[in-house]
Amino acid sequence: GDIYGQAKPPVLGSFAVKKIEDKAREVMKDHLPAYMYTFGSAGTCSTDAANRRAFNRWKIVPAMLKDCTTRNVETTILGEKFNAPLFIAPVGVQGILHADGELATARAAAACGIPYIMSSASSRSIEDIAKANGPNGQRWYQLYWPRTEEITISLLNRAKAAGFSALVITLDTMLLGWRPHDLDTAYIPFLYGVGIQVGLSDPVFMKRSGYEAVHEITKFPFEPEKIRNAALNAGDVNAQKAMKLGKGWLDETNSGMFRSWEHLQFIKDHWDGPIILKGIQRASDAEKAIDMGIHGIIVSNHGGRQIDGAIGSLDALAKIMRSPKVIKAQTKGDLTVLFDSGIRTGSDVIKAMAMGAQGVLIARPFMYGLAIAGQAGVEQILMQTVTDMHLTMGLCGYSDVNDLIGKRDELLEPVD
Ligand code: FNR
Repeated sequence: GDIYGQAKPPVLGSFAVKKIEDKAREVMKDHLPAYMYTFGSAGTCSTDAANRRAFNRWKIVPAMLKDCTTRNVETTILGEKFNAPLFIAPVGVQGILHADGELATARAAAACGIPYIMSSASSRSIEDIAKANGPNGQRWYQLYWPRTEEITISLLNRAKAAGFSALVITLDTMLLGWRPHDLDTAYIPFLYGVGIQVGLSDPVFMKRSGYEAVHEITKFPFEPEKIRNAALNAGDVNAQKAMKLGKGWLDETNSGMFRSWEHLQFIKDHWDGPIILKGIQRASDAEKAIDMGIHGIIVSNHGGRQIDGAIGSLDALAKIMRSPKVIKAQTKGDLTVLFDSGIRTGSDVIKAMAMGAQGVLIARPFMYGLAIAGQAGVEQILMQTVTDMHLTMGLCGYSDVNDLIGKRDELLEPVD
């Protein structure tokens, strides 16, 4: 569109992602642990830095005098048509940054025509998020693999019934990584609050846990510290129940119980639709996914939040896309390759696609938009990323986003 013809100031006060990040910190100054949980990464944050360094190392080499007067950013992924190759990454506990939490993000996604990937650790239920996303919203469900088969099946069935068309299984978070920011602020008890929210919405879990709902104490916007203090100091029985319930749910997922490739068959047997593995970083794992008949992978290192000192995600994608088996499967349409970790601008999307991704996920920037301005803030992030990509793609000499995929040799140059 005619972006420069618009007189409207950005709702986030700026279009610059760094300024938006700083503003989110300012807005969250009375809830700094929540901001730090979002912003932070594993260990010394070196993987998060490596993600950005990888983007900075690969430089765009544009072509001139190509007709890019009209440009197309629509694409088809796993049989679904999308307005742009951009997804909202699964991000848990959005209620810590804004009272509307996931509902605001799911509404923004639908308003912008961008698909929403719902996290298993959401602070709202599957059904409520689906309703907010609406009949025209495009949505996928992300699974943190529960310990119990019954609960896994319950979540999958609920997601299917609520119109989530594809399943993303996150493989890099069988347990939470070493995150000094959260340990410093003792923010982990907040996770019990999250657990409460997710657990409360699952009838199978509630039945198994033997707890009745403790709605009063867990009402939104929930205040985990208040729950914790009430439980520990005041001996509030409801708060103690809530803590136990939340802890029980956390023991159900991200619990340290690792899975192996053979276990994927169980999910395949219980999910009717595409399955995408999130957190792939090695070519040999991408190849295994192909052997298992998995439909897609998301090359991701969880925004550097799990392993400190890991390879930048774009560098991992570069390595994976050197596998002839992966390229062959992608060309045949047997394997969809998506990417995340470090996407901030339109150029980043173009680089990831030239490297071989068919689409990308964005996480932290939309969380900052959510913290500052709720739904409207998320909408700004989505629209500015797509618009930036639209303009930059044309300036690079490409009129169709689908022509970017795998054009590493003509479009990118590594520079140290
Ligand atoms: C995440 N991420 C994530 N991933 C997932 O599969 N399930 C989840 O519940 C969460 N939760 C979550 C919370 C927060 C606060 C953040 C920042 C991230 C990881 C996310 O989907 C994505 O892989 C990375 O965050 C992408 O990197 P960027 O865009 O944040 O650099």
